[in-house]
Amino acid sequence: MLMARQVQVSIKSPAEQQAMRVAGRLAADVLDMITPRVVAGVTTGELDRICHDYIVNEQRAIPAPLNYKGFPKSICTSVNHVVCHGIPGERKLRPGDIVNLDVTVIKDGFHGDTSRMFLIGNCSVQARRLSSVAFDSMWLGIRQVAAGHKLGDVGNAIQQNVESHGYSIVREYCGHGIGRVFHEDPQVLHYGEKDTGLVLEAGMTFTVEPMVNAGRRHVKLLADGWTVVTKDHSLTAQWEHTVLVTPEGFEVLTLGSADRAAP
Ligand code: MF3
Ligand code: CO
Ligand code: CO
Repeated sequence: MLMARQVQVSIKSPAEQQAMRVAGRLAADVLDMITPRVVAGVTTGELDRICHDYIVNEQRAIPAPLNYKGFPKSICTSVNHVVCHGIPGERKLRPGDIVNLDVTVIKDGFHGDTSRMFLIGNCSVQARRLSSVAFDSMWLGIRQVAAGHKLGDVGNAIQQNVESHGYSIVREYCGHGIGRVFHEDPQVLHYGEKDTGLVLEAGMTFTVEPMVNAGRRHVKLLADGWTVVTKDHSLTAQWEHTVLVTPEGFEVLTLGSADRAAP
């Protein structure tokens, strides 16, 4: 007999849900703000600095990654074959690059966590398709979220879509519960079996953030202790939202202004 790991999943009160909405909105605002600056010639370090200053000085919030378990910067910048947790630095973005910017802010004690892909200049068809499949997969996963549904349905929807395109899902990193704590239970796997796993309840908040590789799923951690790359150096893409479980379904807390606008 194997005992299931005891998962303690926090249920956010209405007031806590409101605080999560505020934090989620701020994280999305940072990505909206930085979007016009994500162009060929800019360094990832410059993007980090602009985001840091905006979060601290304009939003009066805290960039959660800074000093988190020793992470040295305020956002993650993951270019081309970097899966996640890329450290901003001297690397200049070049036409043809694809880059994920991952922003997490803390406002009034609560976290909002979101990431998007940016395509620099004219990218290959393969790069654009990879980013678009990762985006669709995230949304297919999110659309499975509702009170009474199971977490395995989320992972299964993502995995099915990714594999149907001949791509692979990273298994070593997953989505996570989020609230006063950056990474809390549950673990949100981006693969799995339907009708298995945690039963969702209204008031849970977690991220959905599939990492999709063009090649094989295996990853390698670089010697800096943070940068995760594809083992076969294939391209990789990721999108992330923070989601609230509602009685009827879900509420995405990190929509950008374009997605919040009335149709
Ligand atoms: N934002 C990442 C996530 O989606 C975590 C970054 S942790 C850091 O969970 F330390 F690398 F910043
Ligand atoms: Co993130
Ligand atoms: Co996250």
